[in-house]
Amino acid sequence: MQTKNILITGGAGFIGANFIRAMLSLRPDYHLVNLDALTYAGNLANLADLPQDQQQRHHFVHGDIRDGELLARLFKKYAFAGVIHFAAESHVDRSITEPQAFVDTNVGGTCTLLQVALAAWNEQRRPMDFRFHHVSTDEVYGSLGAEGAFTETTPYDPSSPYSASKAASDHFVRAYGRTYGLPVLITNCSNNYGPYQFPEKLIPLVIDNILARKALPVYGDGSNVRDWLYVLDHCQALLQVFEKGRPGETYNIGGGAERTTLQIVKELCRIIDARQGKPAGTSEALITFVTDRPGHDFRYAIDASKIKRELGWQPEHSFSVALEATVDWYLCQQEWVEGVKSGEYRQWLELNYETRAC
Ligand code: NAD
Ligand code: DAU
Repeated sequence: MQTKNILITGGAGFIGANFIRAMLSLRPDYHLVNLDALTYAGNLANLADLPQDQQQRHHFVHGDIRDGELLARLFKKYAFAGVIHFAAESHVDRSITEPQAFVDTNVGGTCTLLQVALAAWNEQRRPMDFRFHHVSTDEVYGSLGAEGAFTETTPYDPSSPYSASKAASDHFVRAYGRTYGLPVLITNCSNNYGPYQFPEKLIPLVIDNILARKALPVYGDGSNVRDWLYVLDHCQALLQVFEKGRPGETYNIGGGAERTTLQIVKELCRIIDARQGKPAGTSEALITFVTDRPGHDFRYAIDASKIKRELGWQPEHSFSVALEATVDWYLCQQEWVEGVKSGEYRQWLELNYETRAC
C-alpha cells in the first residue's frame, strides 16, 4: 500500500485531534505529520492513547505555522500530498482582549503556510491531486436575523477580531487558488461540540461549572442562536471534502440543530441533574445573566445543501444523543479537564515528550 504524507496543522487541538483519531482509524494509507505549537488550547494528551499501529502513522512536530523555515524543511522531507489546516486561535472572547495573536497566527501563519506550500507544490511540478484544505468558520458571514441561513455565496461580514482574522485567511487561501492555481478547498463550519473541547467554550465550560457548583454565565438574555454540530460529524465532512471536494470550492458544514444559549445551558443542567440523581431544576439555579459579549452575533444557521448534494454528507448524530454522550465523556474525563485547565499537560510534555523540530 502506497503511503500518503499529509500535513495536519493544529492537530493537538479540539477538532484537529478528533480528526487525527478518525483519520488514523479510517485511512490506513495516511501518514499524518501533526504540526502544533501547543498553545494553551493544544494538548498531546488528546492523542496519548492512540493504538500502537496508529502511533506509527502519526508523527508529532512541536512547531509554529509562522515558522517558514521549519515548514520548508517539513515539506522537503515529507513531500506532502496535502495539507489540512486547523491551527488557529479559536476563541471569540480571547480575540476581543488579545486581537494581535489572532492576526499573527490566523492571518500571518496561514499566509506563511500558503507561501511554503505553493513553493513546494511548484517544485513538485504542480501535481493536480495536491490539496490545501483550510478549515474555517461560519462566523465569517456575520450575523443572521430570525430567518434564513448562510450559503457559500453569502457575503462576508465578520464581527469579532476572531472572525475577521478567519475571513482574511479565507480570502488569502482563495487568492492563492485563483492567482497561482494552488488546489485549495475551504470549509466553513458551525459550532462544534464533543470530546476534547477546551473548557472555555460554552458547552464544556457550562458542564465544568455545573460540576463545580459555580455560576453559569449567560451573555445578554441568552437568546443568541448557534447551529450545533457534533465534532465527529464535522470530521466526516472534512474527510469527504479533502478527498472528493472540487478544488477552488467552498463547502458550508452545519448540524441543522439550532439552539439558543439558554436552551443549551438548561439542557446541560437537566442532563447533569439526572446523572447525579438531583431534583430537576437544581442546577438551573446557577444560571447567571452577565454583560453581553461586545459585537455578539445574534444567530448562525448553515445551509449545508451543497455538501449534501455534491458529496453526499449529512450529520449522522442527533443533537440530543450526542450532547448526552458529550456530558458523559466529560464526567468520565475529569482528570483531562483538570490537566488542561492547569496547564499540567504542557509540563507533562516537557518532561515526557521528545520535541522534534523536524
Ligand atoms: P483549538 O483552539 O481547540 O485548537 C487550535 C490548535 O491550534 C491548538 O492545538 C493550538 O496549539 C494550535 N495552534 C494555535 N496557534 C498555532 C500556531 N501559531 N502554530 C501551530 N499551531 C497553533 O481550535 P478548534 O476548536 O479545534 O478549531 C480548529 C479550527 O477549526 C480553527 O481553525 C477554527 O477556526 C475552526 N473552527 C472551529 C469551530 C469550533 O466550533 N470549534 C467551528 C468551525 C471552525
Ligand atoms: O460558529 C463557529 C464558531 O463557534 C467557531 O469558529 C469558534 O472557533 C468557536 O469558538 C465557536 O464560537 P462561538 O463564539 O459561537 O462559541 P462559544 O462557545 O464561545 O459561544 C457559544 C454561544 O454561547 C455564543 O452565543 C456566546 C455564548 N456564551 C459563551 C460563553 C463562553 C455565553 O453565553 N456564555 C459563555 O460563558
